[in-house]
Amino acid sequence: QEIEGDVEDYEKGGYEHYLRKEIADQPQAVAGTLRGRLDERFATAHLGGIELSARDLRTIRRVKILGCGSAYYSGIVGAELIESLARLPADAEPASEFRYRNPVIDPDTLYLAVSQSGETFDTLAAVHEVQRKGGRVLGVVNVVGSSIARACEGGIYLHAGPEVSVASTKAFNASVVAFALLALHLGRVRDLSPADGKRLITGLERLPDQIATVLEDEEVVRQAAQRFADAPSAFYIGRVRGYPIALEGAQKLKELSYVHAEAYPASELKHGPLALISPEMPTVVIAPDDHLIDKNRSAMEQIKARGGPVVAVGHSPFAGLADETLIVPKNEPELDSVLLGVPLQLLAYHASMLLGRDVDQPRNLAKSVTVE
Ligand code: AGP
Repeated sequence: QEIEGDVEDYEKGGYEHYLRKEIADQPQAVAGTLRGRLDERFATAHLGGIELSARDLRTIRRVKILGCGSAYYSGIVGAELIESLARLPADAEPASEFRYRNPVIDPDTLYLAVSQSGETFDTLAAVHEVQRKGGRVLGVVNVVGSSIARACEGGIYLHAGPEVSVASTKAFNASVVAFALLALHLGRVRDLSPADGKRLITGLERLPDQIATVLEDEEVVRQAAQRFADAPSAFYIGRVRGYPIALEGAQKLKELSYVHAEAYPASELKHGPLALISPEMPTVVIAPDDHLIDKNRSAMEQIKARGGPVVAVGHSPFAGLADETLIVPKNEPELDSVLLGVPLQLLAYHASMLLGRDVDQPRNLAKSVTVE
């Protein structure tokens, strides 16, 4: 069958830009990460690329996640998932910093290198640093056979499909889902109950359709984007699980629209950034319906009291507090991050469109940073 138009149009799947297509691809990308990996019978995840027995996995005392940029932010989400579900101390660090600080490598720590391209120079160097000191590193990588995938002793492929646009979208969420699978697997060889395992499996299975639902509601995001296109700068705030989503949301706005954006833990607002709140400075508040919702409401009140516009992302409207609320469906609290980030991708995309930026190829950036 002959395809009309050029190859690039075909690859964009009818969208004007790769970025928009890749945002739209997310239900399939996440389904690709999950495919064949959920085990309902034993309420766990099967990860064929991790050749560690349950006994090996029980010797792990800590988890350290290394990556750059958005991959690092997905690692912050992943560390929280692992710590809360497997009850293992876990954290994430920029691979670019880790490799230069002569880190202590602990044989009982599981190191994870996360990278869409699998070619990021700093992440690869961090893998080598861990290995040189006798540590064990697994990859969480999208591109099969890439340098990082080959350097690691196994890992989890994202199977999210190719990501062409410089700004990461579907790989970010696919990485979060891969970390959720790992957290489930590590949890079930430890103390995560079968009931909790099943609860998470049901939640994971619901994600693709729920992402599709978020993508249906683009008009309200397009309207909110005008505020950011007109602003000199923006804040993104969230607490605990919401904080890495704020970091990633701010990153998307910076990359795609060149509008300055800064992410802060909402709990830190009074420790400095509140001084900058003004009618010209919009704030995105990540406010899921969880045990921190009252704290997030109070942050919105603080901002409103100083005349700052508020765009909330959450599960229900914040009448009288937020100028707009970007509403996403509710999943299990551990998995809500995946859904909360999607409207922020669209927000940055529309701000970029309004400002006439080169959305697929932002200035000064490359898709994979293969030099220092
Ligand atoms: C994401 O939007 C950025 N373009 C960038 O931060 C990226 O995530 C980072 O360079 C890491 O790339 P990798 O996942 O291919 O290693």
